[in-house]
Amino acid sequence: MQIFTQFSEIRAFVKAAKMQGKRIGFVPTMGNLHEGHLQLVRQAKQTNDICVVSIFVNPLQFGLSEDWEQYPRTFDSDVEKLKGENTEVLFYPSESEMYPNGMQNQTRVFCPTMTDILCGASRPGHFEGVTTVVTKLLHIVKPHEAIFGIKDFQQLAVIRRMAEDLCMDVQISASPIARAADGLALSSRNGYLTDEERLTANQIYKSLQWVQSQLASGETNYKQLEEAASKQIEAVGMRIDYFSIRNAKTLEEAVSEDANLVVLAAAYLGNTRLIDNVTITL
Ligand code: PAF
Repeated sequence: MQIFTQFSEIRAFVKAAKMQGKRIGFVPTMGNLHEGHLQLVRQAKQTNDICVVSIFVNPLQFGLSEDWEQYPRTFDSDVEKLKGENTEVLFYPSESEMYPNGMQNQTRVFCPTMTDILCGASRPGHFEGVTTVVTKLLHIVKPHEAIFGIKDFQQLAVIRRMAEDLCMDVQISASPIARAADGLALSSRNGYLTDEERLTANQIYKSLQWVQSQLASGETNYKQLEEAASKQIEAVGMRIDYFSIRNAKTLEEAVSEDANLVVLAAAYLGNTRLIDNVTITL
């Protein structure tokens, strides 16, 4: 696996590969790789000749009181995992390589749609940090396809909208949520959970599944379902941020005419913020 830290290196590599007719798949990450990330890599390798993975813990998408400093950095084990998947290229830029003019002076990409609701409501500026860094990474790597996990459903929807609005010449693809045996969605933040917290963390998924089955059996009182599911999650000691049934494309609150729904949840277990979702077509 080749590891590049400079724009100029990865650009030269991709340019040469494209001249040889190779198709480039790209998996942007913040490292601390788990099975969910490796699933993205496998998907990228299936539909492309070369898989480029990036690892960059992007400070621009963390709020001042959030866990940027604490965020796990596990470069050596990440490299081993990527080698295990026969990943061709790792792009590992420094903060000064990504933000040479400083973060405050960085030109931003702002997607007004869908960014001030759900996770955007409790993490102001988060999605602007994501869309800015993803735009930069796409400009640097210039892949044919970029793959994102469905676990971050809102992030995926925002990135799709951004790519459409900015006429980006890249295919945005999605990869299913990887889960632990008890259903908990895999996330780098699961590592923050104590052993005791870990035992109840899958309640979010259990409640999402319960709502999914209620919707499938014809329940149409969305507010009541959201409230009941929130109570189930709070009953095991979590603090609900949101539990919401939405239109899967626009992320607007679901109405009875909507056929494609997503049920999204975010909750705090101790200091750890967990998110998850399920989709349903009625
Ligand atoms: O999902 C993530 O890991 C990050 O938000 C991303 C897309 C790599 C941008 O920093």
